[in-house]
Amino acid sequence: MNADDALVLLRISNLNKNFGGLQVTNNVSLDMRAGVITTLVGPNGAGKTTLFNLITGHLTPSSGDILWQGESIVGKSHWQIARCGIARSFQDLRLFNHMTVEENILTVMEPASWIWQPGGRAGRRAREERAMDILARTHLLDKAKTRAIDLAYAERKFLSLARIMATDAKMWLLDEPASGLDRGSYELFLDLLRTEVRHGVTVCIIEHNLDIVIGISDRIAFLDQGRLLADGDPNTVLNDPHLAAIYFGEQAA
Ligand SMILES: Nc1ncnc2c1ncn2[C@@H]1O[C@H](COP(=O)(O)OP(=O)(O)O)[C@@H](O)[C@H]1O
Ligand SMILES: [Mg+2]
Repeated sequence: MNADDALVLLRISNLNKNFGGLQVTNNVSLDMRAGVITTLVGPNGAGKTTLFNLITGHLTPSSGDILWQGESIVGKSHWQIARCGIARSFQDLRLFNHMTVEENILTVMEPASWIWQPGGRAGRRAREERAMDILARTHLLDKAKTRAIDLAYAERKFLSLARIMATDAKMWLLDEPASGLDRGSYELFLDLLRTEVRHGVTVCIIEHNLDIVIGISDRIAFLDQGRLLADGDPNTVLNDPHLAAIYFGEQAA
């Protein structure tokens, strides 16, 4: 293994997915390296969410492989993959609407950590303190006792992120986490993401807003009709006129 390989957390290798006659993932190979923010861009229907579903075990590839820290995770269930340390958000958030903000976080905390934490009340207190810390970092501290369903839109987006933080996952797959946020909220969101990455999290984010793409990406992967058309430095990818035509052609339509 050379030095470059040592940094690869997730390796997607010649991945294909067909739905009947429709090929939605077409021979995609992509490495995600530790500590890097990769932005997945491309027109609607390009296969971005499908790629997340394949990584997380919500879908099974037709062929190809996905390696997490060198080991294939194809065929594992979505909860086994989550336990490996890969967390994701969904476009539709999937919060527990009738639980409070705090409860939404406590329910996703890794139960395995209960074993090594001091038992009983002390363990519970430790988890609650951690939940409060996460709420502070996601600007939700004063909403701890509010039901998820009663939150404002941006707060729901932050709660979805807080739930991912609570899992302690090494890799976060975020499906349009900033869509619909006003500028103030998404600046807070980007700050938060940068801080987490500095502390060792690796992120792949699906995003349409070019201000956010430019503001956050270490690297851009461009998908169109299931194919990876580009993968590299943000300036190079964003300045490619061919890709711009595909991207803006679709957005104008
Ligand atoms: N479960 C499914 N069955 C059939 N087709 C699907 C399924 N999921 C996604 N697709 C199709 O796969 C293509 C890619 O979808 P998706 O990954 O959601 O795109 P994106 O997230 O880039 O907008 C679309 O044409 C979509 O209709
Ligand atoms: Mg999608």
